[in-house]
Amino acid sequence: MSPNRRHMILGAAQWWPGGEHITAWRRPDAQPEAFLDLEYYVDWAKTAERGMFDTLFLADELYVWDRFDSGVEYSSNVRPEPFTLLGALAAVTERIGLAATVSTTYNEPYHTARRVASLDFLSKGRAGWNLVTSASDEEARNFGRDRNVDHATRYERGREFVDVVRGLWDSWDDDALVRDKASGRFADPAKLHTLDHRGKHFTVRGPLNIARPPQGHPVLFQAGASEAGRDLAAATADAVFTLTGPVDRLRDFYTDVKRRAAGYGRSPQDIKVLPMLIPVIGATEEEARAKADELYELTPETLALDLLSHYLEMDLTGRGLDEALDFTPDVDATNQSKSVYERVAHIAADRSVTLGEIYRHLFDERVRYGTPEQIADYMQESFESDAADGFLVMAAYLPAGLHEFVDLVVPLLQKRGLFRTQYQESTLRGHLGLERPDSSYSGGTDTAADGPVPTKNTLAETSPLPPQHRTYTSRGAS
Ligand SMILES: Cc1cc2nc3c(=O)[nH]c(=O)nc-3n(C[C@H](O)[C@H](O)[C@H](O)COP(=O)(O)O)c2cc1C
Repeated sequence: MSPNRRHMILGAAQWWPGGEHITAWRRPDAQPEAFLDLEYYVDWAKTAERGMFDTLFLADELYVWDRFDSGVEYSSNVRPEPFTLLGALAAVTERIGLAATVSTTYNEPYHTARRVASLDFLSKGRAGWNLVTSASDEEARNFGRDRNVDHATRYERGREFVDVVRGLWDSWDDDALVRDKASGRFADPAKLHTLDHRGKHFTVRGPLNIARPPQGHPVLFQAGASEAGRDLAAATADAVFTLTGPVDRLRDFYTDVKRRAAGYGRSPQDIKVLPMLIPVIGATEEEARAKADELYELTPETLALDLLSHYLEMDLTGRGLDEALDFTPDVDATNQSKSVYERVAHIAADRSVTLGEIYRHLFDERVRYGTPEQIADYMQESFESDAADGFLVMAAYLPAGLHEFVDLVVPLLQKRGLFRTQYQESTLRGHLGLERPDSSYSGGTDTAADGPVPTKNTLAETSPLPPQHRTYTSRGAS
């Protein structure tokens, strides 16, 4: 395959350490005793790198899912802090990207800019972050609140958070560190910029105490799917994750995100769309189906019911999976993830189905079982018909699920010319075909009167925030 030809993007992701299916940790070959061992994650990372994946991605939330007893009893609620883990994985990998989730509702931009920039240096330009706004009240309770911040405010804060983080990354010009032993000058003060951001949600003076990252701005992923979420992604993200689904549904999302991005003056190539793919692979379709059924059977009935209670925000305690549900959706009322609510509510609103059937429907919709060829066919069709730029492969069970994908599906994608056979680039931006952004201060004079000159990569011209909330125009204004 020619190095310049567009190829599929592949991310290897995990939410539950045992795999994307919540009780996959019970499989005979699962290793739940290793979920806090570095070696467990090293195997995962090296397998993905052997498969030439563009990036790793560690999902994250800031709480234990203990809304129901079953969450503690049956799901594996413990995992390492992701950026600490990625720092360790940077040392044992060479080319693959390293990305993890950051909640913009329960973090500060200065911490985040510093943490992600550090990972970018330690990995020589392979860092990425996934912006989430945090969906659960339980997370709020770990950060001084009783209830989660409301949905619209969370996204508004997320937008300003991105502006501040990117502004902080531009604190030092790329050539600001002189390190001249003869003169004794370590840095050129004229090439250091103080952000002086004063916005609705953040007041941040800056500058950041780390140099401009190798990638300029480490890669920003996003997974919002509500109106507000899609807009934030379209305006700011380098790549957007989305739920899995049939090709037509993926295409609707793909088209919508690219259209919204165009509305912010961005080109369709500037934002990559990566749906989840949760593969269960068998030598035959029947074998794959049987494997998926085995996984499904590992989930206790109470846990299935409590998951539905969580998604639908209603108490189903004591109900049986054979009972029907009398349910009227109200998407405006939910303050959790609106898109997930809508997906589940859409199925639950059909009153002829039982609770068990709703849960099974959700499982079948998420897990894609089949032969390697069938899975590659689905990926190829999505990729070639403008429904996906690639996939976030969330193996249904780990570690075996990723090994199977790399050994059986990746070679097919390579043979079909859809995926790289070796890495061409060394940074995550490079893998994704994204340019390194200029600093927002480049090309302009650094005086308080003028402020930095925004480049095509800044949001100053397109941000819906009032000027005093925008990083690139607010600097020096006070
Ligand atoms: C592939 C993927 C990965 C996600 N990772 C996380 C995560 O790590 N932490 C989190 O809190 N939410 C995560 N989410 C949830 C989203 O950030 C977001 O809450 C949800 O998809 C959409 O919310 P919205 O519909 O309210 O915009 C993820 C979603 C997807 C599709």
